[in-house]
Amino acid sequence: MLDILSANIASLRKESGMTQSELAASVGVTFQAVSKWETGQTLPDTAILPKLAETFGVSMDKLFGYDTAKAKNPVRYWDESYAKDGYFWGVKPSWMCFKVMELLPPTRRLKLLDIGCGEGKDAVFFARCGYDVSAFDLSEIGVEKTKKLADSANVQVNVFRADFQDFRLDSEYDILYSSGVFGYMKPELRSEIIENYKKYTAPGGINAFQTFVEKPFIKPSPEKDKPGRERNYFRSGELFTYYHDWYIHAVDEFIFDCNSSGIPHKHATNHIFAEKWDKGEI
Ligand SMILES: C[S@@+](CC[C@H](N)C(=O)[O-])C[C@H]1O[C@@H](n2cnc3c(N)ncnc32)[C@H](O)[C@@H]1O
Repeated sequence: MLDILSANIASLRKESGMTQSELAASVGVTFQAVSKWETGQTLPDTAILPKLAETFGVSMDKLFGYDTAKAKNPVRYWDESYAKDGYFWGVKPSWMCFKVMELLPPTRRLKLLDIGCGEGKDAVFFARCGYDVSAFDLSEIGVEKTKKLADSANVQVNVFRADFQDFRLDSEYDILYSSGVFGYMKPELRSEIIENYKKYTAPGGINAFQTFVEKPFIKPSPEKDKPGRERNYFRSGELFTYYHDWYIHAVDEFIFDCNSSGIPHKHATNHIFAEKWDKGEI
């Protein structure tokens, strides 16, 4: 709760266009107190909480991060983020795309599926490179923006809306790709979903996946449990265990600094690039 409240005070203050000193003056504390709230070192006194909510013009529920509408409809978080002008994630492809190209260059029309494509930066890049790309996301606005980005690049991407918790593949792809998405996968469905992805990967094809992972020495990100962004991080290394029977080209884990909520924090992330043995070639 401390993390969510800290993140909300920082983001609501910024949305209101106030400095820490201005917020401090309006609720009658020092700016050092505001700084400590925002970095999660202390909690505001309970008598101050209603003043904070009033200053930001929000309910106490919202201040504590509980937004009924969003909680019932998590995709709203992404729809709202993607509804803003520009591209929330930018349009530059992830480094993972280049690793995919190195492993399976598009020397023929290879079928690729981007799972949770967001606004399409990676899917459109793959299409521009000559892959036969399909992509899906839970966010309708993400899907629309992916279509727009593909149109502006003059390439074809078969984009559709789907929820990976219940969407299962029934035809093969050469490449299954996903970045920043698996943390939303329900833990009890992971094994079934990943087995489905493995089954519908063509022999000699690859799975290239990234997911955030838990580390005992890293505090959960301030946004992790924000309504609409609740995630179930994988355990460190867990993703790799699903691929014990595939050829592993690369796995890694690294920790990086992030400031996405205005509060400096760290993430740990796992990547895997695994190939389904083409038994005919062994
Ligand atoms: C961190 S963003 C990553 C977007 C994109 N892969 C990228 O790297 O730019 C996470 C994405 O996962 C999508 N997402 C979350 N839950 C999902 C689900 N159940 N099914 C499909 N997409 C989902 C969100 O809509 C969001 O676009």
